Amino acid sequence: MTTPLSAYRDDFPGLKEPMNGKSLAYLDSGSSAQKPQVVIDAMNTALTKHYANIHRGLYANSQVTTQAYEDVRGKVASFIGAASENEIVFVRNSTEGANLVAQSWARYNLKKGDEIILTEMEHHANIVPWQLLAEQTGVVLKVVPVLDDGTLDYGTYVSYLNEKTKMVTLVHVSNSLGTVNPVQKFIAAAKDFNADIKCLIDGSQSVVHAEVNVQELGCDFFVFTGHKLYGPNGIGVLWGRYDVLDGMPPYQGGGDMIETVSFDGTVYKNAPYRFEAGTPAIAEVIGLGAAIDYVSQIGMSAIATHEKALLDYMMTQLATIDGLTYYGNAQEKAGIVSFTADWAHISDIAMILDQCGVAVRTGHHCCMPLMQRFGVEGTARVSIGLYTNKDDIDQLVSALEKAKEMLS
Ligand code: ALA
Repeated sequence: MTTPLSAYRDDFPGLKEPMNGKSLAYLDSGSSAQKPQVVIDAMNTALTKHYANIHRGLYANSQVTTQAYEDVRGKVASFIGAASENEIVFVRNSTEGANLVAQSWARYNLKKGDEIILTEMEHHANIVPWQLLAEQTGVVLKVVPVLDDGTLDYGTYVSYLNEKTKMVTLVHVSNSLGTVNPVQKFIAAAKDFNADIKCLIDGSQSVVHAEVNVQELGCDFFVFTGHKLYGPNGIGVLWGRYDVLDGMPPYQGGGDMIETVSFDGTVYKNAPYRFEAGTPAIAEVIGLGAAIDYVSQIGMSAIATHEKALLDYMMTQLATIDGLTYYGNAQEKAGIVSFTADWAHISDIAMILDQCGVAVRTGHHCCMPLMQRFGVEGTARVSIGLYTNKDDIDQLVSALEKAKEMLS
């Protein structure tokens, strides 16, 4: 069945390989997206045609590779609406971005009793770094509850803002529920209360589904990962407002992040280089650049429209299956659907889906507090991408019908 973005499906070799002898319905893009050939080719070229380390060689291949790497900083800056490429720090993933902010900005600026507001729907990547910081410094974490429909309790959030609040951090799009949080409103409330409160947004699931502009959001930090954006694994981005970023101490020490080193003292480079110690993930950064070119050429708004239509189609088709309970019914929702069934355990369902060629994620989705909030161990989660089509959804629905027949 054709969909507006069907033509792009052929760009993804991973979708052409059968799974368990069935054509693959890949509905786990929220976990990690398939890679288009252009990303694979860009990495291949970086590794085979002119491979060399960056920032270190005067010879041609090192210069070419350095340029290719540095060009991606500008691509990322345009992609998320940053003011400058110098606000872009390459990290391993969103997790490393959050840890960097916690261990650099927060560790050096916050003290015992200061408060950080986060939410019950955060991924562990945006909980555990703050818990580690709390153990180290005595900062206090305040957790905004999630309401029954999977949205955040804004009233409680506002009531948490006080003179001890130093940071607010929240997820833009929930990886488990699909809820699109009104982060701009949350940030504005914090800044109106006290312009010095820093705001960090976890954009891992938002940059892949819609256009994002960090300056319009009004945050200070924004993190996302490459592998969910059709790019390579092991590469992510921390964006920070330059005045904040350049005032922060290094997160890790090593080669390439220094101006001079001596045993009397070391002088660090300016941001962003101060935060990129050691040889970085060169081919992965170049692959991320290719992924950004790819989605930009399709257009993030076209991707958002396509995914919204498929989400509506999926909800209509799933409604034909009795006994499913959905988690996350917000008005503003990305292409992520979480459910349990009253007729079988989600792991048993996932095993049958697997046999039918359908890939979904089951479990707590690295959001144990959120699962506890809804009183479940985990859910089955369907997540779509730009290449998803109606056939994938139909394959899911017929596999669920089969699971129901076998298990209930
Ligand atoms: N954070 C990824 C997910 O939601 C791994 O599945």
